[in-house]
Amino acid sequence: MILLGIETSCDETSVCLLKDGCRILSLLTSSQISFHEKYGGIVPEIASRQHIEMLPLLLHKALQNAGVTLDDVRAIAVTCGPGLEGALLVGVSFAKALAFAKNIPLIGINHLEGHIYSNFLSEKTRQKKIKPPFLALIASGGHSEIVHVLSHGKYRMIGETVDDASGECLDKIARALGLGFPGGAVIEELAKKGNPDAIHFPRATLKGKPYHFSFSGLKTSVLRWLDKHADSNPSTLPADTFHDVCASFQEAVMDALSKKTIKAAVELKMHTVLTGGGVAINKCLREKLSQLGAPHSINVIFPDPEFCTDNAAMIACAAYYRSKNSPFSKLDLTVYPQLRLDMPVNFLTR
Ligand code: KG4
Ligand code: ZN
Repeated sequence: MILLGIETSCDETSVCLLKDGCRILSLLTSSQISFHEKYGGIVPEIASRQHIEMLPLLLHKALQNAGVTLDDVRAIAVTCGPGLEGALLVGVSFAKALAFAKNIPLIGINHLEGHIYSNFLSEKTRQKKIKPPFLALIASGGHSEIVHVLSHGKYRMIGETVDDASGECLDKIARALGLGFPGGAVIEELAKKGNPDAIHFPRATLKGKPYHFSFSGLKTSVLRWLDKHADSNPSTLPADTFHDVCASFQEAVMDALSKKTIKAAVELKMHTVLTGGGVAINKCLREKLSQLGAPHSINVIFPDPEFCTDNAAMIACAAYYRSKNSPFSKLDLTVYPQLRLDMPVNFLTR
């Protein structure tokens, strides 16, 4: 069974032809970072325009690379939220037009669901034959969520951020440090040369919400520290101190993500934790989760790094599992920028 996946929720245009839920026949992703980086963040209008330009080209090339035609495609999976409204609309409109013209079933997919299912694209994970219920940590530029996956397509939110997402916090501090956008990977690289215990930055605890995250206090604390010690000009800091700031800041972010996730897994008696999203590439986070989980016999699974960031393979993979127990979307499928995992996608059909 070949599924076509389409992902345009943010700044990556991605198209994938996926066979039997795991074999990638073709995956093409075009990053728009070079168009956005001079603005220090994603410009929604530019994102939509780039998706419009790239989608038809990528689809054409992906079909060619896979050696198949649209007649071989069993269903079209498309991200319908959460994300930038205009960007989502480009992908969903494109998918609907194809579905209508070629009479192919359509499946609206939650982008976060894609991040969870990115784990199942890895050969090593597939061999483990993991089945719900399990816990998932999604840590990306827009999200930091702990999710209880009850069955394929059925989710319960355990924790989420009350302000900034973990990746957003990494990106904002990277910008303040003059490291460009996005900043998570650069901070990880520089943190390797620093001491994670050099500066104590705060870890937020939220009364009555043990599994929720808050990263804005941490962000303010790092900015204040830079104000005080570098007159808000981090380039004047000695290299060692600069590396210590990166390491101590990264430590605070990854500490919060890993401790809360493992605590939730212990509380819910879950022995499998899946991870996903761009921040899940981070080795410090991977080590912490594995180390904290081990004494409780919690097996923490990580997607292959190339599937952590946004891509259409994870969207097609989520659709493969979802299509087993939920109906296809109708052609009036729309987009929902604030879509949550505990909202059914069918809710989107007007
Ligand atoms: O999942 P993703 O590609 O996009 C969203 O859905 O948001 O995640 C992007 C985020 C950015 O905030 C980026 O800084 C972060 O993932 N990121 C990392 C690393 N690589 C990317 N964060 C920490 N360590 C990394 N190595
Ligand atoms: Zn994402």
